[in-house]
Amino acid sequence: MPLNIIFFGPPGAGKGTQAKIIEDKYGLKQLSTGDMLRAEIKAETELGLAAKKVMDRGELVSDQIVIDMIAGRVDSPECAKGVIFDGFPRTEAQALALDAMLKARGQSIDIVMELKVDDGALVARIEKRAKEEGRSDDNVEALKNRLAQYRSYSAEVLPYYNAPREIAVIDGMAPIADVTVQIENILNLGQAA
Ligand code: AP5
Repeated sequence: MPLNIIFFGPPGAGKGTQAKIIEDKYGLKQLSTGDMLRAEIKAETELGLAAKKVMDRGELVSDQIVIDMIAGRVDSPECAKGVIFDGFPRTEAQALALDAMLKARGQSIDIVMELKVDDGALVARIEKRAKEEGRSDDNVEALKNRLAQYRSYSAEVLPYYNAPREIAVIDGMAPIADVTVQIENILNLGQAA
């Protein structure tokens, strides 16, 4: 049975970093709506150009855009072992759509993990990445909005997932390798590598 995980956390929490490590080690597929949107921007598609304006302000793109992106990927053979949903869902509408998508395939979300990192460390990480990678939403104004958005949508989405199960809280302040170990322990993956 596939293993479906959600990585939830503020900008710079390490969702993408950890999702890639778990993907490489265990063959689960990382589906990052942020990465998919950035691929659209890079390809200069109509969707990408429209999304860029919203993303550069640090706001959320529309539910339907990201739901369609995820729906277009969940049946790919790469997802056979399971999916790490990275940055999705961010609204209750997205969570409901994801549940319906998985239910139609006889699946569900197995574990939700919340990566917790202090705001000061997030700002430092994003400032560092801005210098290294030049991501256009990694600037002071957009980050302020992204953090405010996070506070608002986490209050909407976390209770949705906390009801049927407990959310696994990860100390995202730890060094990258230690964060991975925390995740592996929760997933019982440590010995399988
Ligand atoms: P998205 O791409 O999802 O960005 P985000 O949530 O802001 O997250 P980041 O990519 O900034 O951080 P991360 O947690 O992945 O951290 P990372 O591993 O990269 O979304 C971007 C935008 O797209 C949104 O604002 C929105 O507009 C739109 N969007 C996307 N999904 C959407 C949705 N579902 N609905 C609506 N709109 C959506 O790490 C960050 C840095 O820290 C890296 O340099 C890394 O090397 C470093 N680092 C990682 N872990 C550690 C550690 N433990 N110690 C020290 N440094 C670390």
